[in-house]
Amino acid sequence: MRSTAESSFIVQKEMFSFKDLKNRDFFLRPEGTLPTARAVVEHGFLNKTPPIKIFYIINSFRNERPQEGRYKEFYQFGVELFGSKEAISEFEVISLAEMFFKEIGISNLKLEINSIGCSNCRKGFVEKLKDYFEKHSNKMCEDCQRRLNTNPLRILDCKNLNCKEISKNSPKILDFICKECLNHFEDVLKLLKFNNIKHEINPTLVRGLDYYTRTVFEFTTENLGAQNTVCGGGRYDDLLETLGANPTPALGFGVGLNRLILLIKKEKEELIKEKCDIYIGSLNEEAILKISKIANNLRKQNLIVQTDLLNRTVKSQMKYANKINSSFSCIIGENELKNNKVSVKNMFTKEIFNVSLN
Ligand code: HAM
Repeated sequence: MRSTAESSFIVQKEMFSFKDLKNRDFFLRPEGTLPTARAVVEHGFLNKTPPIKIFYIINSFRNERPQEGRYKEFYQFGVELFGSKEAISEFEVISLAEMFFKEIGISNLKLEINSIGCSNCRKGFVEKLKDYFEKHSNKMCEDCQRRLNTNPLRILDCKNLNCKEISKNSPKILDFICKECLNHFEDVLKLLKFNNIKHEINPTLVRGLDYYTRTVFEFTTENLGAQNTVCGGGRYDDLLETLGANPTPALGFGVGLNRLILLIKKEKEELIKEKCDIYIGSLNEEAILKISKIANNLRKQNLIVQTDLLNRTVKSQMKYANKINSSFSCIIGENELKNNKVSVKNMFTKEIFNVSLN
């Protein structure tokens, strides 16, 4: 990892660092983009025909103050697309996230988007920003007073209410970015509009990581309190070069799985409810043999089947079938084995019908 990337990560994302017994420095990864980019460079992926598309599901570690939705260890899945500078790739990456959320039934997320320009056009802006915030520094939080000298852009990202208020009237990056960056941003917006992907331009959105260039975006929710970003991403056209590769445009996003689960619990509990297609109870030892076979056959057909593993009474077996939300249930005993059929109950409609044991 080159020192530029290294120092910005250590400062910005509060990495956990430690020394091993041989006094070597170790860091716990705070996110997935940098390690993916490094792996892509190190393992020759860039020699393949572009674009290169990668996804990952990882745990990450950040030494942040824990609260609901913000943990020291958390999980994220991410996608990264390497090798395209075209606006259509922003569209593809953003619409993939949007489709994913729709597919799992989370639809009231807000897509916020901004452009932070390229390293050239950002320079003038950062100077103006610094001048502006210096005038208000006595009202800003301690972190932002430090950011004034290290990275004024990050002040726009601060969740402190005073800093947020001060940021409202700060210079806006879209007034400073160069023509190429503006055209690129307009192309991205045109694609989103054409495809009815609702979005809102948020001129203070800069994202907390230093590698971004041009487009940045977040999917946010009103249902998670302060930790309202479920997915964040953007373009990072300069990062691969800092890792020793030829200039390679890239972009991607990360979805926080812990936050997603919190949101599902609040909005779509049925998605994570325990599920069972059929509960097959038993009345005697002999039935267990038959049930083991039926259960396995049904499982091979992708049905979720539960059976009695605890030698429960019939009454408590039925209670259990209810508890695990089984769609159907039946109990197999001597009579059922003799007649080779069983009464199956639809647990929702209470309807009962006979089924052959074969
Ligand atoms: P990030 O926004 O820092 O972006 O993290 C991605 C997502 O992880 C966040 O939107 C949030 O849902 C979740 N998250 C972040 N920190 C925590 C935490 N302490 N506890 C629980 N969840 C958390 C990135 O990490 C970039 N690598 C995304 C990206 C990919 N950009 C381009 N490609």
